Amino acid sequence: MHKVGFVGWRGMVGSVLMDRMRREHDFADIEPVFFSTSQTGRPGPDVGKPVAELRDAHSIDALAEMDIIVTCQGGDYTGAVYDDLRRAGWRGYWIDAASTLRMADDSIIVLDPVNDGVIRQGLHDGVRTFVGGNCTVSLMLMAIGGLLEHDLVEWISPMTYQAASGSGAQHMRELLRQMGYLHHAAGSRLDDPSGAILDIDRDVSMALQGADYPADHFGVPLAGSLIPWIDQAMSSGQSREEWKAGVETNKILGRHANPLPIDGLCVRVGAMRSHAQALTIKLRRDVPLADIEAMLGEANDWVEVVPNEPAASQRQLTPAAVSGGLDIPVGRLRKLAMGDDYLSAFTVGDQLLWGAAEPLRRMLRLLVA
Ligand code: HSE
Repeated sequence: MHKVGFVGWRGMVGSVLMDRMRREHDFADIEPVFFSTSQTGRPGPDVGKPVAELRDAHSIDALAEMDIIVTCQGGDYTGAVYDDLRRAGWRGYWIDAASTLRMADDSIIVLDPVNDGVIRQGLHDGVRTFVGGNCTVSLMLMAIGGLLEHDLVEWISPMTYQAASGSGAQHMRELLRQMGYLHHAAGSRLDDPSGAILDIDRDVSMALQGADYPADHFGVPLAGSLIPWIDQAMSSGQSREEWKAGVETNKILGRHANPLPIDGLCVRVGAMRSHAQALTIKLRRDVPLADIEAMLGEANDWVEVVPNEPAASQRQLTPAAVSGGLDIPVGRLRKLAMGDDYLSAFTVGDQLLWGAAEPLRRMLRLLVA
């Protein structure tokens, strides 16, 4: 049985990963070893079988005993131990949620329903470092993998609506505090349907712009507003999140030699844990909509084509509808006024599942199968 070390299993992504692994009985097929950066020696978690006490996540010797290491501890941790571990001669498999090693020449970004062939070829070639992709990239590819498989895409412009969870647990808490703060500013006037809405709006706007608005983590209001910039600035004028769309998609698809242009704007909105994105897709040729819908729906077991109708779109294509599940609905499919080779699409998916934990757990399954 493979000895699998887990680091960062208590954080938000790590907890979602543990949940999924328990639910799928993944622990039955491995010998799990739990590491900690602060609680070495304490009892390990309940995973349905006895586990040893927590080991030191900074001990290269302890890590080197593992066949596989799965880390959701974050980029600083990867930066602190990965090179030392490899330099010590460790030849095990490293599966990582952080972005640190994503663009390294000797790593593969994992999303097996989309790039199973790239992963298997990498394993055959001796690749030992597998990294989960950026959440919006993975969610977009799960949604439109069918068009890419058929080589129908000339370029994509994704415009994202990203949930608070992408910034972290404290940001999710802050979003809720912001919502409560605004609700409080409106006060009991909300109960009077004939009250003057502009009075309420004035006080809510004052609250939004006031110094006491709770924004320690986001820096600015998210509830009642949005934030049209995610992550650092690149010299190209893109945000780092926008830059990832192009480079990571092409790496996932193994298209180094023939990259697809993918570029758009990334925006944080007041959703909790599911990212949405509107896609403008330039097709290589005019393909009938019915054929496009069939290709999209057949691409994997999780994508669901939603009819381009008001009720279905409003019910099924929202963060509220998909949070906590693995379904990837894609809808608002129609040809745009620019021409029959321009397609619109809107898709949504749970940022912590397909956007983070699920590709890692599936990579682990692939290694231990
Ligand atoms: N960078 C993403 C976000 C997190 O900020 O929403 C998931 O990769």
